[in-house]
Amino acid sequence: MDSLKYTVIDHPLVQHKLSLMRDVTTGSKEFRELVSETSMLMCYEAMRDLPVKEVDVQTPLGIAKSKVISGRKLAYVPILRAGLGMVDGVMNLIPAAKVGHIGTFRDPETTGTVEYYCKLPKDIANRDVIIADIMLATGGAACEAVNLVKKAGAKNVKFMCIIANERGIKKVNETHPDVQIYCAAVDPELNEQLYIVPGLGDAGDRMYGTK
Ligand code: URA
Repeated sequence: MDSLKYTVIDHPLVQHKLSLMRDVTTGSKEFRELVSETSMLMCYEAMRDLPVKEVDVQTPLGIAKSKVISGRKLAYVPILRAGLGMVDGVMNLIPAAKVGHIGTFRDPETTGTVEYYCKLPKDIANRDVIIADIMLATGGAACEAVNLVKKAGAKNVKFMCIIANERGIKKVNETHPDVQIYCAAVDPELNEQLYIVPGLGDAGDRMYGTK
């Protein structure tokens, strides 16, 4: 694969909120609010290609030729636990979306990704799916999550994260070339513990104050 495929959402509001999230002095309450707001703004961009159809709407003064989203249903699948923080923002935009949950962990012996929880909407095969996690580091959890939703029948899958690393992007690009990746930044390094550097630290701990 020569060049990596991903979209950086460089809207000033997203970038401003990302800077606040990165800041080590930002506490859990503010961090959670920022994750939620950023996810909503990113989702807005990631949905730019939703198909619309024209409808006639009766206004108080006449008939307007107007547009509505045409018949596509959505499922939103956060990867536990950090991805959970991204649900509220997206649900504000699309309240009719259904939500699935996927939990994975890295097996320290094999270094492979193991699923420990997967509950998806029954009709996920008929829905466009956005999988979300705050960080895309090695790509192990992201690829496993895409495997699971595809196995359940989903065909149109996107992956949304706030900070990505090239290793994770490459893995998703190679394993699932049909999956579009949206992020707010691509950071250069992974450290020995496989954290993204400079990144924002452990996203789950930052959100839930567990450290
Ligand atoms: N998960 C995190 O929470 N942070 C990282 O930097 C990488 C993975």
